[in-house]
Amino acid sequence: MRESLHQWATSRLGATGDFDVLPLLGSKEFVAWLPTFLEAKTVLIPDIAYPTYKVGAILASAQAVAVDISPKDWPEADFAWVNSPSNPTGRVHTDYELRAVIEWSRTNKALIVSDECYLEFEDTATPTSIMSHTDGDNTNILAVHSLSKRSNMAGYRAAFVVGDTQVIARLREVRKHAGMIVPLPVQHAMIAALSDDEHVVQQRARYNSRRETLASPLKALGFRIEESKAGLYIWCTRDESDWDSVSFLADCGVLVTPGSFYGEKGARYIRVALTATDENISKACDRLIELKGKS
Ligand SMILES: Cc1ncc(COP(=O)(O)O)c(C=O)c1O
Repeated sequence: MRESLHQWATSRLGATGDFDVLPLLGSKEFVAWLPTFLEAKTVLIPDIAYPTYKVGAILASAQAVAVDISPKDWPEADFAWVNSPSNPTGRVHTDYELRAVIEWSRTNKALIVSDECYLEFEDTATPTSIMSHTDGDNTNILAVHSLSKRSNMAGYRAAFVVGDTQVIARLREVRKHAGMIVPLPVQHAMIAALSDDEHVVQQRARYNSRRETLASPLKALGFRIEESKAGLYIWCTRDESDWDSVSFLADCGVLVTPGSFYGEKGARYIRVALTATDENISKACDRLIELKGKS
């Protein structure tokens, strides 16, 4: 499996130089426990983010500070998360932004962990891995990937991290004792999934077609779609409280997530997931069109 992860990181992520790989019991485990394992003191998290980054900092008794993608305004810290494509916004960081983050890591001798679990799901922008921007020096850089997303294998708990050999050696040592060992059958399933790209192409097409299908009734109802350039979500607003938008859509049986779940900056947005079946997405669209007819 290590060979397979190594090869995938080289061919798909564009990783160069010395790097190591480590399988994970799903990436949530890693997000939640990494700051504890590394005894982080100050953890920078995106200002609109997957909530487990903050939970991981709390578990480590570290200070969590919400920041935007530009490191010029970042406070002193020993650890920073970046996430592209983003959950919940579908934002894709540019190569320039990722290189600026690497530069910050080198200047501050701080760890950057890039959560790239939606990397395979490009739509109108093409995400790149932080591993392709290190010019072969992977010191203090990690990239996290999950087969929950890439291969729809959430129930397998199959993910992995690639990057700095010393940091990964330290993690491997701690985890031997913490007991988070990936079962052998799951390792074989990971090898099989990573050796096939066709299912990823199909899944990507599915998500992108659902995004397109849902966009027009949402816009007709007055939602403005922002970011949403890749990944599994539409991020949109009607310039009202997120809960007003949630209840407006819940009245016709369409469930979306309030943006405030992801940070204060999300308080006037909702996240629409593209993970329902095509049939249910199509039903949701019919209901939205009917709702528009009534309003
Ligand atoms: C940004 C992000 N990272 C990590 C995860 C965890 O995924 P898993 O534990 O299934 O690998 C999720 C799940 O939704 C996520 O959105």
